[in-house]
Amino acid sequence: MSSSDSKIAVEGLAKSFGDNRVLEDVSFSLDAGESLVLFGTSGSGKSLVLKCILGLIPPDGGSVRIDGAETTHAGGRAHIELMDRIGMLFQYSGLFDSLPIWENVAFQLTHYRGMGRKQAREIAVAKLAAVGLKPETADLFPSEISGGMQKRVGIARAVAIDPKILFLDEPTAGLDPIMSNRINELILQVMEELGATVISITSDMRSARQISNRMAMLHDGRIIWTGPTDQLDRSGSEHVHQFVNQLAEGPIKMRVRAA
Ligand SMILES: Nc1ncnc2c1ncn2[C@@H]1O[C@H](COP(=O)(O)OP(=O)(O)OP(=O)(O)O)[C@@H](O)[C@H]1O
Ligand SMILES: [Mg+2]
Repeated sequence: MSSSDSKIAVEGLAKSFGDNRVLEDVSFSLDAGESLVLFGTSGSGKSLVLKCILGLIPPDGGSVRIDGAETTHAGGRAHIELMDRIGMLFQYSGLFDSLPIWENVAFQLTHYRGMGRKQAREIAVAKLAAVGLKPETADLFPSEISGGMQKRVGIARAVAIDPKILFLDEPTAGLDPIMSNRINELILQVMEELGATVISITSDMRSARQISNRMAMLHDGRIIWTGPTDQLDRSGSEHVHQFVNQLAEGPIKMRVRAA
């Protein structure tokens, strides 16, 4: 399949903030139904890649096509239609503080799809149950629940629209191992039931192996390795080897400076 037939095709994405050249030349593509885990050191630009794909941050160069249509500079109606097809979990959950939990979960349904509040609430409560949250949680506000619970609400919101495309930024960070497994199973379920195409960012390699069929490492503004998940331990990349095995020594130098 050529990249023009891909569900998501990213080519030559570049983005700087002042002197900080974060993305230099990021390219990868996914076919429908694939699940990619993007990994790399903190600050390498993983979250930024997702924001550029979503059209939330305009890149300096490069292109992103979803179902063949360019998304990076889509505005107005085209951008709303794009957002309506994608479920997104932001790294820090990004909940609306002023809305109760259920309205956060149902936001896309009520605001973009015009669904009535009663039906939207029922769906929200069902999605909350899928991430292990009780119906009572629905009427609380984000400030009244723990960080891990906020993360799960963010996941419930991402899957509320039964998305065909799902982006998950650190879906299991800060969750206990049992809850992490439950979330991993939920991601697999969404892929199976909806045939969803998924991009996740995670540093949890156990989780990554469970939820992806492909992985890609972002380093120095480029994808330095991508391959099938079962090839992760045979990548032939010293960077991947160091990251996956959590080694202090290797080509990745931590920018830590003594005071
Ligand atoms: N809106 C922005 N304005 C200025 N700089 C930004 C912005 N967004 C990201 N950056 C910079 O881009 C770099 C990459 O940020 P990003 O959040 O994508 O990293 P990350 O790989 O997701 O890291 P982490 O694993 O810690 O979440 C950082 O140096 C960050 O300061
Ligand atoms: Mg990030």
